[in-house]
Amino acid sequence: MYAERVVSGMRPTGALHLGHYHGVLTNWVRLQHEYPCFFFVADWHALTTQYDNPSSINRNAIDMVVDWLAAGVDPEQATIFIQSRVPEHAELHLLLSMMAPLGWLERVPTYKEQQEKLSSKDLSTYGFLGYPLLMAADILIYRADKVPVGDDQVPHLEFARETARRFNHLYGREPDFEEKAKEAVKKLGNKKARLYAELRTRFQQEGEREAVEQAHALLEEVQHLSVLDRERLFGYLEGTGKMILVEPEALLTKASRMPGLDGAKMSKSYGNFITLRETAESVGKKIRAMPTDPARIRRTDPGDPLKCPVWQLHLVYSDDACRQWVEAGCKSAGIGCIDCKGPVIDAILKEQGPMRERARFYEEEPDLVRNILADGCEKARDLAKETMRDVREALGLGYS
Ligand code: TRP
Ligand code: SF4
Repeated sequence: MYAERVVSGMRPTGALHLGHYHGVLTNWVRLQHEYPCFFFVADWHALTTQYDNPSSINRNAIDMVVDWLAAGVDPEQATIFIQSRVPEHAELHLLLSMMAPLGWLERVPTYKEQQEKLSSKDLSTYGFLGYPLLMAADILIYRADKVPVGDDQVPHLEFARETARRFNHLYGREPDFEEKAKEAVKKLGNKKARLYAELRTRFQQEGEREAVEQAHALLEEVQHLSVLDRERLFGYLEGTGKMILVEPEALLTKASRMPGLDGAKMSKSYGNFITLRETAESVGKKIRAMPTDPARIRRTDPGDPLKCPVWQLHLVYSDDACRQWVEAGCKSAGIGCIDCKGPVIDAILKEQGPMRERARFYEEEPDLVRNILADGCEKARDLAKETMRDVREALGLGYS
């Protein structure tokens, strides 16, 4: 019934690094050719943890969009926009908050985890508790069925699915609901199916609340029902309708293969990263300063690539011939570490070449970026408004 659609967002945390490129951005660039894609700057989400220091959000947001464009996200293919410029996200968040069980929010694992991790900040706020609900609104408002995220976001996606399901259960039904519900009735077995049908009729024809309660008790007893079938049977008791919100699915981003300067995963918080637009000079400096196999104290000491973070980068960037040269040269002390680092530096500079060029183009034309975002916001808003019409209607706020 609804078109396939991809939506994803990123918090504006500052310059993106090669880990973002190899993990998230190459994935986005691929997806933009396969589906209608909506990529946005989650600036409200940044505020949930950064409410005490919002001054960098604006600049970070624009820098991040330039990084996306530099990496090859194409505004002709994908819709690029800023969350706070589509205020419908906030309206949906508010309406969903009416029916979002507090317990669900408190049980999202990232809630306690992040509070502990960022213990220097007071995160016992309303907004931070609502982080997953805002994210659910971001996704559900586009009725997106696919959400590319890293595995740290899976609990949030699960929360969004449950929210959609609850909303639809309360205010609407799926398109082929009747048929599916009837099939689910059959799964109850003859005797229970007959009782269920009888109770349903009693409620629908006589309006007996008690019949609904009895039917609920009956359904609670049945063990072998799937969650969805159970939901359908609960819904079918009280009526039929249409599906309003779509349950989204996570498209898991492959774990980034990008190791950092110290061999650990490249990450902003470890300070072991190279940014997309890092200058050539700085790239050279950072790679030349990388630690190597500690056994290679002198140039004449042989080493073992498996004990060296530079080797990890060869695994990302070098072809077989180069890797053989490294292995042989390292183990025999035939090459020095500076020699060994040369091809890595070259490969990173080569990868950054087109990115740096595209970034320069956009840096010189800030109006262009503004226009891309204005267009993107408008397109996103058109779709968001459509969903909100149905949502308001379903909640009795149609006023037409
Ligand atoms: N929480 C996501 C992250 O930290 C960012 C995000 C906000 C998001 N809203 C979203 C991702 C909607 C996908 C879809 O990475
Ligand atoms: Fe690492 Fe290369 Fe030096 Fe070997 S030669 S220790 S792989 S940098």
